[in-house]
Amino acid sequence: MTTTPGGLELRTARPSDLDQIGTLLVERGEEPDALDHRLVVEGELGWDACAVVVDGDRVVSTATLLDETVRVGDVVLLAGQVELVATDSGYEGRGLVRALMGWAHDRSRDRGHLVQVMIGIPYFYRLFGYEYAIDIPRARALRESPSPGSGTGEPASAHRDAPAGSVLREATTADIPALVALQEAAQAPYDVAMPHPEERWRWLLAHEGSTMRVLERDGIVVASARTGPPDEGLLIAEAAAADTAAAHDLLDALRGLGEPLTIVHRPLTTPGRAWADLLEPGGTDATQYYARLERPELALDALRPVLTARLRAAGLGRDVVISTFGRHYRLPWTTDAGLGPVEVGGPMQAPGVAKGAGVAPDRLPALLLGQFGIQGLERLYPDVYAPDAEFFGALFPPVTADLLTYYLPW
Ligand SMILES: CC(C)(COP(=O)(O)OP(=O)(O)OC[C@H]1O[C@@H](n2cnc3c(N)ncnc32)[C@H](O)[C@@H]1OP(=O)(O)O)[C@@H](O)C(=O)NCCC(=O)NCCS
Repeated sequence: MTTTPGGLELRTARPSDLDQIGTLLVERGEEPDALDHRLVVEGELGWDACAVVVDGDRVVSTATLLDETVRVGDVVLLAGQVELVATDSGYEGRGLVRALMGWAHDRSRDRGHLVQVMIGIPYFYRLFGYEYAIDIPRARALRESPSPGSGTGEPASAHRDAPAGSVLREATTADIPALVALQEAAQAPYDVAMPHPEERWRWLLAHEGSTMRVLERDGIVVASARTGPPDEGLLIAEAAAADTAAAHDLLDALRGLGEPLTIVHRPLTTPGRAWADLLEPGGTDATQYYARLERPELALDALRPVLTARLRAAGLGRDVVISTFGRHYRLPWTTDAGLGPVEVGGPMQAPGVAKGAGVAPDRLPALLLGQFGIQGLERLYPDVYAPDAEFFGALFPPVTADLLTYYLPW
């Protein structure tokens, strides 16, 4: 238990708080949030994953920390995601969420998380060490065009049943191994991927905020998608398919639901490639996941195999120096082992002298996980620069990312 600056108690949530937390989340958020919260605390993560601020017996603020993993190349980083955040409107502006974010980040550190990622309200989470880092793919309307799967020339929006031999149905827990396998294949081409953890699949099947659907061909699951609640059309996300034919069949079956479709485009997946020409352009305003790196040295250290492999693939190899100006990180190079353990040093204003790069600390998440690479970031921010363009361009290229989160992109 700790005390917030205003003298209220911050503590781990308990089963007796369940109804009050649910009520608070629904009042300040969405109707399905109460069930989402219950699934988390009554599942494997348990009550320790949630904290509350109480005024006497009254729950006035809450936050939950989910466990995630983020794969970068073939390195898997443990990660945390803060979710289900709300403060009672009578208690806003007293630093309660600031205190809960402190709790969440302490817990995240204790659980060995090297990074935190989240979707959240604009700007707010930058106050707690997050920065926009990874593009969120946009939902794009399905064009009124003939379906390549049908060859009938019907408009895309026409009602059409699933193709013969195929059945679209809601997924059950028995489908989880097939769902996991489809998403593993869908995410394999991405440099950075965050899958749904094992237990999340059960929550997603039980919750009300979205519906997981599978397409069976001759009794075998060959494609899947997650749909949002019907709301002037149907949002299709997380689409995955075993092959191109299954992707087209999935789209035909989804059209058969009789709603106009908008599709979260995942360009490197089988459905993404099969459907790309059928989608209207996406919005051009920026939407990004937040990411937070509290101890960059641990993330850099964990990523040494990936960084070493990038340098070797480019036929390069020497010590790496990255200065975040207030401190710097050196990774010594040896021919046999590649990049060695990270050494942390003090302020370094002119990293170019050490053949190093300068990267403002708040740009590190985008550098490691984002689509710009160091050269893109250099063009955007005066406090990112790498004098040796060939070396640092090979070390920090633009990366592709695909993150599966509890909440759907929009
Ligand atoms: C947004 C919300 C969680 C903030 O809770 P809170 O307990 O009032 O937040 P805090 O008092 O701890 O605010 C921390 C800081 O954020 C600032 N802040 C508060 N709300 C903000 C907002 N919506 N946008 C930007 N900054 C905000 C505060 O001024 C404070 O700044 P400071 O520490 O520099 O003084 C709360 O207003 C809420 O529940 N809103 C509705 C639900 C929601 O949007 N949840 C987030 C889902 S991702």
